[in-house]
Amino acid sequence: MQKSIKELGVKLEHPAREEWGDWAFYGEGNIQPDDMIERTEKVGGFTNIWLKNEWLISQLSIVPKKREKNGKTMVIDYSAPNIAKPFGIGHLRSTIIGQALYNVYKYLGYEVIGDNHLGDWGTQFGKLLYMIESTKTDDLSIEHLEKLYVEFHKRAEDDKNMEKAAREWFWRLEKGDGRARELWQKCVEQSIAEFDRIYELLGVKIDNAYGESFYEVRMVVVIEEAKKKQIAKKSLGALVIEVPGLKTPLMLVKSDGATTYATRDLATLKFRQEMWNPDIIIYEVGTEQAMHFEQVFGAARRLGYVSEHTKLVHTKHGLYLDTDGKKFATREGKSIKLEEVLQEAIKRAKKLGCEDDETAKAVGIGAIKYFDLSHNVQSDIVFDWEKVMALEGNSGPYLQYTFARTQSVLAKVQGSMFNVQSTYKFNPEEMAILRWIYRFEEVVEEAAERFAPNLLCNFLFELAQRYNTFYNKHSILQAESTSSRELRLLITEAVGKVLKTGLGLLGIEAPDRM
Ligand code: ARG
Repeated sequence: MQKSIKELGVKLEHPAREEWGDWAFYGEGNIQPDDMIERTEKVGGFTNIWLKNEWLISQLSIVPKKREKNGKTMVIDYSAPNIAKPFGIGHLRSTIIGQALYNVYKYLGYEVIGDNHLGDWGTQFGKLLYMIESTKTDDLSIEHLEKLYVEFHKRAEDDKNMEKAAREWFWRLEKGDGRARELWQKCVEQSIAEFDRIYELLGVKIDNAYGESFYEVRMVVVIEEAKKKQIAKKSLGALVIEVPGLKTPLMLVKSDGATTYATRDLATLKFRQEMWNPDIIIYEVGTEQAMHFEQVFGAARRLGYVSEHTKLVHTKHGLYLDTDGKKFATREGKSIKLEEVLQEAIKRAKKLGCEDDETAKAVGIGAIKYFDLSHNVQSDIVFDWEKVMALEGNSGPYLQYTFARTQSVLAKVQGSMFNVQSTYKFNPEEMAILRWIYRFEEVVEEAAERFAPNLLCNFLFELAQRYNTFYNKHSILQAESTSSRELRLLITEAVGKVLKTGLGLLGIEAPDRM
């Protein structure tokens, strides 16, 4: 049905103002009224299209749609905290946005694979291992490891031998030395246990966590191939790959023989291609790594590690800023403890009136996620508790509250087969919902296409506002007539379903009661 206008081959859009119609396109086309289209009107070069009430009503029971698999595969690289370092707020953004994109693509019928590219390899482990051994500590908590790392750099300023010792330790690690491996393994386990507490709070489970260390052996192959194809070049004792259009080449092997973050990303790309042959790979990583990904994507194309049809995307999310515009940090300038922020959100949800722990968790964590996702991915976010937890306005609690409202209405009626006559005369508030809710499907598609979950947030917020306006003005259970009652219940049910599904795509729970 929808095809009839979609097949026109014109660029359809929703007019800026609803009194101009439901759809419009520039130019003229011969559109006949059908079971979807009520009428058209030509104004100033545009053709405006109005949809039929019957069609709008039919959509209430169709959205959200059950979609077939589309035969495409998407791999998403997200979260990716670093071992022996705190789970930062940037990793939080990556986890939240990454999970939303994961869900959205899955909804659209993609085969989706999530991969947590843990930072568990690299020369920094040489420094840590050296410090652990020389201080004979057995405290491997992230907090302590972080201290050791800082301590190392302090001491290394006057002691030239430290860097050398660290390189040796990394070298031992790469060569598979028993003691080095044992210590490294312990650090990894400790850190993962801490990260898991955060994932548990966030309700996030990532399909895979190969991590950088997984590519240890695979890097050797990459380096060999890059040499053999004469793509890698010697440069001041190092091995680099030039990338067309970029001044700085990718560092494949450092002059001391160590591999790099980029070497591992190349091996990762090769592996993902061979393993899943994806149509698209999304890297949900901050904008500060823009150069790194340009180098990796460019070098991988040169090496033939990604097939022609594979799209590579770096989402480039922005930073979190304090209300005074500085990078989000504690008073002492240290990075914020993420777990404390999440616990604080749960506490604040209790103050909003969520009594039981489960609801408070859903609302508190949901608020943090929604606040993040409602921003454009690439913009910086000013963190403001008032806005995060607001019960009014474009916030998680507001949407959850609206959903709970729909459920409390529905809880008072039996069954859910509501009958609506097409001759029914809609009031403007009912009409406003009907003319909005069917757009859900296209919004999800656009959110995927543009890697922009905020589009979905905007849609849901508008839907909730329309529902609340309707709710405040009209009686549902005590409607004037049976047909009004039936229609309003049908609307309530549909709004509830779309809110729940939409929030679900954003990774946010929708409790029946708040
Ligand atoms: N662990 C890295 C960091 O914290 C992010 C990894 C992103 N993914 C990747 N394939 N490079 O900066």
